Amino acid sequence: MPAKATLKLENKDVELPIITGTEGERAVDIRNLRNETGYVCYDEGFGNTGSCESAITFIDGEVGILRYRGYPIEQLAEHSSFIETAYLIINGELPTPAQRKRFSQLLTENAPIHSSTEHLYEGFPWDAHPMAILSAMLNSLGCYYPHLATNDHQRDLQNFEETAAIIISKVRTIAAYSYRASRGLPYNYPRRDLPYCENFLHMMFSTPFEPYIALPEVAQALNLFLLLHADHEQNCSTSTVRTVASSGANLFASTAAGVCALWGPLHGGANMAVLEMLKSIHAEGDDGTKFIELAKSGKADRRLMGFGHRVYKHYDPRAKIIKESFYSALASLGIKDDPLLNIAMRLEEAALKDDYFLSRKLYPNVDFYSGLIMRAIGIPENMFTVMFAIGRMPGWIANWKEVASNAKGRIYRPRQIYVGPAKRDYVVPHQRH
Ligand code: CMC
Repeated sequence: MPAKATLKLENKDVELPIITGTEGERAVDIRNLRNETGYVCYDEGFGNTGSCESAITFIDGEVGILRYRGYPIEQLAEHSSFIETAYLIINGELPTPAQRKRFSQLLTENAPIHSSTEHLYEGFPWDAHPMAILSAMLNSLGCYYPHLATNDHQRDLQNFEETAAIIISKVRTIAAYSYRASRGLPYNYPRRDLPYCENFLHMMFSTPFEPYIALPEVAQALNLFLLLHADHEQNCSTSTVRTVASSGANLFASTAAGVCALWGPLHGGANMAVLEMLKSIHAEGDDGTKFIELAKSGKADRRLMGFGHRVYKHYDPRAKIIKESFYSALASLGIKDDPLLNIAMRLEEAALKDDYFLSRKLYPNVDFYSGLIMRAIGIPENMFTVMFAIGRMPGWIANWKEVASNAKGRIYRPRQIYVGPAKRDYVVPHQRH
């Protein structure tokens, strides 16, 4: 393996070091390129850019591998829970029983939100999108803990365990309250006796006259959904969190920014977009056959949502797991012959045989089935992306910690290729045409 790459630039040889990750991925280190040559790299969308070294998640998209801290996603999905996996992602190791107990206690203690926060919800229009509320509330949460949100990474890191637990626990309360506010329903306080997912479902769906007792299958499906979303290396929202963190910003502000980045339909908003697509195909009386043809037009507004991925050029391993568990969840919920599910199956079958999708390596991603799972367990559609955000919180927190702990870290500040007008002189108003 060469230790250096040679770049020929204007008849000059520039030597660039090669760095290799623990799983053998290689990178050309261009950190000194601009200093030495005056050139920068152009990589719109960052498809070829390693923006950091990270020890959290490994993905090999060519063969469909996903590992959190070295553990294959398939093993974690089978044996672990969202909370245990969250601990693993944040701390780097699976917890001992004592560590797991302490983490659970911290989550339980931190589940309620300050009662004055409830008034903040009243300031939003009744139909405000829960992602907008979630992001605003997460950022304002920092105002209640100024000693944990100092924007001094060394001080913020001293209290990291507590801050991480506050965010993981309260994000679920904030999310459930956003839903209750949007429906004009009274808030349900978290219960100390319920595990993470059951507590969330209680806060979402209990009424003053009837507690909501989650079916074990429903809680299990939610647990798996959150676990599968817990981290995914340098995606759009995680790199946003790291970018914000690199300026020195605190964990509350950085994760709030992650929520905003996740919202778009090409990222976390895809689970909602998939369901909208399936419903519109159904409403048009199409069984998916016509839509597949339209999706091949290459038009951005006609994409087969839930298909394709920047990194996976193979079946997304999360999609495989979620699809398998989906059928057992449906069976236990007594859901049979769902027309939207039938359309989804037909779309998948057709796309996996079609040269357009095969040649571009477009396979189902996690969002193709996750919206259907959410719908089956009764989560309202505009909460789908919020569920993704709850799941992704451990990953954002762990990435924030990596940035904050890196003593040699630099602020994220990419360059650009300027293509606007060349220098010109100011024109006074009466001379402008
Ligand atoms: N349907 C139809 N054509 C597609 C699709 C699709 N879903 N995705 C990509 N293409 C085509 C695209 O038109 C282009 O064709 P051509 O080479 O002829 O111009 C080619 O495939 C490559 O696409 P790209 O836009 O350069 O790929 P990208 O890596 O920039 O985008 C993506 C990745 C996920 C944004 C894109 O595949 C997409 O828009 N998929 C649908 C939205 C979706 O499901 N997003 C969730 C991603 S998984 C959850 C997460 O981690 O955020």
